[in-house]
Amino acid sequence: ETYETILVERKGRVGLITLNRPKALNALNTQLMNEVVAAATAFDRDPEIGCLVITGSEKAFAAGADIKEMQGNRFPDVYLDDWLGPWDRLGALRKPVIAAVAGFALGGGCELAMLCDVLLAADTAKFGQPEIKLGVIPGIGGSQRLTRAVGKAKAMELCLTGRMMGAEEAERAGLVSRIVPADQLLSEALATAETIAAMSAPAAIMMKESVNRAFETTLAEGVRFERRLFHAAFATADQKEGMTAFAEKRPPEFQNR
Ligand code: HXC
Repeated sequence: ETYETILVERKGRVGLITLNRPKALNALNTQLMNEVVAAATAFDRDPEIGCLVITGSEKAFAAGADIKEMQGNRFPDVYLDDWLGPWDRLGALRKPVIAAVAGFALGGGCELAMLCDVLLAADTAKFGQPEIKLGVIPGIGGSQRLTRAVGKAKAMELCLTGRMMGAEEAERAGLVSRIVPADQLLSEALATAETIAAMSAPAAIMMKESVNRAFETTLAEGVRFERRLFHAAFATADQKEGMTAFAEKRPPEFQNR
């Protein structure tokens, strides 16, 4: 598969997708959307891959949807085309996805980062939902995921003013899992992804499903869902191996990974 707007690499059991439209600060046009979704779906189905990393450049993770491309859009066309619908498939991947964000993550760029499971930020990262300045609102979940991540007051303020927030504010607010120096962002993201990819794949997928359930249902239902998967984990060879290895004081050799 050849792509024009992204770079795709395998790093052992990690699938790396680098957004690559440097002249447009990785603005998310339709081609880039389709390529990211296709590459991520292929990694998700690949048994040799255990975790994905999506990153951008030093200057921009992504500066949002491509404004020049969408400028002339009209309602019936975008509605009938289900424009932006393919991004939902990214949120539906089964394997864990890490967003490694340096520089601008604005509009659709911030939303793309929030579609991922772990959000690592360089100290240079800047997050925002500036759609309001263009006379629109977010379109791939920004008003929903940002609000769940940082709470109503901060989400409202960010979305209504369009201001950017830096990495430290984003970490304090709970949007990012941690901040790393910009020159270590990719190596840290890959190391985290390798750690995840070395786990039992069924356990990692159950874990992702279970954490995501917290955003979809009540506490009682979420706990019940977790309990069912927890019990199911005892049907895997990796559970036997993980616990035997602990008892024998050696590292586990998971089969399903
Ligand atoms: C198209 C974009 C772009 C975008 C930047 N560029 N962002 N092109 N769509 N979202 C282009 C510029 O036009 C310019 O091209 C080049 O990238 C470099 O950008 P500059 O503005 O010159 O860089 P700088 O002065 O450093 O400013 C960086 C910036 C600014 C603050 C990030 O570019 C900016 O405000 N961009 C728009 C951010 C935004 O509003 N995003 C939300 C989009 S709406 P030329 O050819 O002039 O060199 C959205 C809706 C979500 O995302 C829907 C779901 C996907």
